Amino acid sequence: MESKLSKVVIAHRGASGYLPEHTLASKAMAYAMQPDFLEQDLVLSKDDVPIVIHDIHLEAVTDVASKFADRKRADGHFYVIDFTYKELLKLNVTERFNPETNLQIYPKRFPKGKGSFKLHSFQEEIEMIQGLNKSTGNTIGIYPEIKEPAFHLNEGKDISKIVLKVLSDYGYLDKNDMCILQCFDANELQRIRKELHSKLFLVQLIEFKEEAQKLKLFSTYADGVGPWYKQISKEFVKEAHNLNLEVHAYTFRADDLGEFGSFGALLDYGFNTLNLDGVFTDFPDMAVEFLQE
Ligand code: G3P
Ligand code: CA
Repeated sequence: MESKLSKVVIAHRGASGYLPEHTLASKAMAYAMQPDFLEQDLVLSKDDVPIVIHDIHLEAVTDVASKFADRKRADGHFYVIDFTYKELLKLNVTERFNPETNLQIYPKRFPKGKGSFKLHSFQEEIEMIQGLNKSTGNTIGIYPEIKEPAFHLNEGKDISKIVLKVLSDYGYLDKNDMCILQCFDANELQRIRKELHSKLFLVQLIEFKEEAQKLKLFSTYADGVGPWYKQISKEFVKEAHNLNLEVHAYTFRADDLGEFGSFGALLDYGFNTLNLDGVFTDFPDMAVEFLQE
């Protein structure tokens, strides 16, 4: 993977447009859609197991509030880090919803509260993807994100070290391996490159528009950047390319089109107008089909 890939599709939280995000079912469905990468957001459990989940809190995608009502912190949240892996496996995972209103975020998606889905570890997901690569002959990659490293450090945990060890155990060591490691925290991603000596392909995620000014700094340790597509221009992508940074933008959703008349028009804007190298999408089948056409 050392050399630049052609345009890539990243299955954002799996096939999350069709099945509850980050469930193994969603990952298996996404795998069958043949994207280039499957994404894993990672948060540590109390016993240091990297869990594939987007938030450091549990209440927007699980039934934690009814199963462990007494484990709520004073701030009103249930934290992944307060539960052992064994305890986390007791939770049912559901389509994302607003815990205050109980309404699901994307009303047309998989119905909230239906089906039987569980949390899982990063290792379990890697084993499923590597197993499928073996059984199908594909070479689909992983795209893990280290979530909130400063929060983890404050809780006495070095999530980056733990994630890098898992990656190394499963053979993801350098840019030739089908793994891209991403993080929003620029200090942490620099640390991963410079102090933890990772040789992996690193993507600096960009949350705020003003961070887009820091491309030159990002190019000193990262191989790519991951901005919100609404915050960038084709000039931004050009500047990134001039600095040898790939641009993988988030998040392309067929049920959140904004000003675009169709998902095809949105993908055309991303891949052709902006000239992105990759897109994170909840609908990997549609992005794969778009690129094939
Ligand atoms: O990681 C890139 C993409 O996933 C956008 O961020 O908030 O969905 O993890 P988020
Ligand atoms: Ca992510």
